[in-house]
Amino acid sequence: MCGIVGAVSGRNVLGVLLQGLQRLEYRGYDSCGVAVWQDGTLRTSRSTARVADLARQIDASGLHALTGIAHTRWATHGAPSTANAHPHVSPDTARPRIALVHNGIIENHDSLRAELQAAGYRFDSQTDTEVIAHLIDRLYDGDLFDAVEQAVRRLRGAYALAVLCRDEPHRIVGARSGSPLVVGLSDGECFLASDAMALAGVTDRIAYLRDGDIVDIGLAGWHVHDRDGQRRERPVQTVKILAGSTDLGPYRHFMQKEIFEQPQALADTLEGVEGIVPELFGDGAWRTFDQIDRLLILGCGTSYYAGLVGKYWIELLARIPVTVEIASEYRYRPSIPDPRTLVVTISQSGETADTLAALLHARNLGQPHTLTICNVESSAMVRESTLAYITRAGIEIGVASTKAFTTQLAALFLLALTLAQARGTLDDDALAAHLQAMRHLPRAIQGALALEPQLIAWAEQFAARDHALFLGRGLHLPIAQEGALKLKEISYIHAEAYPAGELKHGPLALVTDAMPVVTVAPTDELLAKLESNMQEVRARGGRLFVLTDADSRFDSADGVQVIRLPEHHGLLSPIVFTVPLQLLAYHAAIVRGTDIDKPRNLAKSVTVE
Ligand code: G6P
Repeated sequence: MCGIVGAVSGRNVLGVLLQGLQRLEYRGYDSCGVAVWQDGTLRTSRSTARVADLARQIDASGLHALTGIAHTRWATHGAPSTANAHPHVSPDTARPRIALVHNGIIENHDSLRAELQAAGYRFDSQTDTEVIAHLIDRLYDGDLFDAVEQAVRRLRGAYALAVLCRDEPHRIVGARSGSPLVVGLSDGECFLASDAMALAGVTDRIAYLRDGDIVDIGLAGWHVHDRDGQRRERPVQTVKILAGSTDLGPYRHFMQKEIFEQPQALADTLEGVEGIVPELFGDGAWRTFDQIDRLLILGCGTSYYAGLVGKYWIELLARIPVTVEIASEYRYRPSIPDPRTLVVTISQSGETADTLAALLHARNLGQPHTLTICNVESSAMVRESTLAYITRAGIEIGVASTKAFTTQLAALFLLALTLAQARGTLDDDALAAHLQAMRHLPRAIQGALALEPQLIAWAEQFAARDHALFLGRGLHLPIAQEGALKLKEISYIHAEAYPAGELKHGPLALVTDAMPVVTVAPTDELLAKLESNMQEVRARGGRLFVLTDADSRFDSADGVQVIRLPEHHGLLSPIVFTVPLQLLAYHAAIVRGTDIDKPRNLAKSVTVE
């Protein structure tokens, strides 16, 4: 999704700007651009190709500047095109006065556009962003900070902005509401970015702006006004920026690399977990766990499915009721708040707009207990929560989440054990046995990865199909749902997941020999029920692809193909069963030749609604 970088320095800033964009590339974008102040003019360069092409374009044009802003765009208003790429400038003349980049969505852009057109402004793009550039130009009266402060009062919606003015060199004004923006500081230099990660290698001294803040950065320093125009201090923190390796190594795609990194990611996530203690989730967690009697888990996409598995574990082991809700639904629903609820947000990035808004909404409703399970320590959700568990998956670049999901599951299992201890529903021996089983996970995942050749054979059969059905029950229903999501998002095969017991209530009507049916069938108490659901599929000529346990009684037969997973601890099987489904989706996408790491229309970090 959209990314912002801005820099004011005594040295040429183009390297910092382009490197920052490169660090944000993995989030997904369709165009990019920079604007710099050079010799009294604003010069821009935009491209619908990759950041590397923009860098070549800039090299050829000889841009060199001490102040500049840069952007990666993920289209919302207006198609991906050079005209719609940021920065946008105003007025639309050979010598524009304002250049600006924007993340977010302006909801009242139509009425503002009409007003500005009536005032004589010509629009070159279909974006909501161009409206802001013209609005700032119209309000400009010699002071960029004043103009931006007045302009944002007229905006409805979400924005993070970085603005340059032709008449004020060495100055960038930023503003945020609903979209993240940080200030980076280094000796004699000041930066803006939508994510501290864009500044990795440049500075680790970061100030996080609050909603409604307007910031002025320059060579002499920086200052902030809040929404009411009051001067405010924002603390500068030294943050650990999750940069990680962005090299592919021997792999063809980041998704493949990340699938194979799972044993290490799980080992890293469990490192330092010496016993089950509340402090795993933050200082004072025991007090919180003592004061709650329900959980509400919120997330989007893959993180939501992790929450569904978490509910099962927590209710089973700790006997605490759990509700799991899609964040974008919860934030707009007239729910009934309960101060004794622990609100758990799950997010790889910690920046997903709906999950962050749901967290703030839950708190505003009077629910003070919040915990985030997140892969990015410096993210907004971690900062906004009282408790946190940081998964150690390392940077995840593939849009389709893989290692972040399995490490989220590990964190949720630890949460279930910790709550079970706090409630006294598991004794010390049982806790130690579960923890020991977790330590075996990396090995079990290695075993699941070794099944790749069999999954390639399945994928070749799937790649020729337009639809697929995934079935699961109980603890494995969310895994079937995650498997269907993976297949659809990267191979573009339409896939749906159902609780197997629902088969007769609709999806069975779709079953023919052209509809592969994947069944997640571990040896558990629901196996007999699942078997009869599978018979229903076979009786209609459906072709079954069964994932099951090493000791299972299933055998391959006509129309039934079986893959057995390595031995593992029963309750942790959702983590192990996830891996073959990732490999199936990955290899089906390979056969279909899709853009696996950047599937069409999708973004890694969804920072707009
Ligand atoms: C996007 C990504 C998914 C991810 C979801 C939630 O849709 O493509 O992979 O599961 O956002 O992201 P989060 O960072 O909050 O886990």
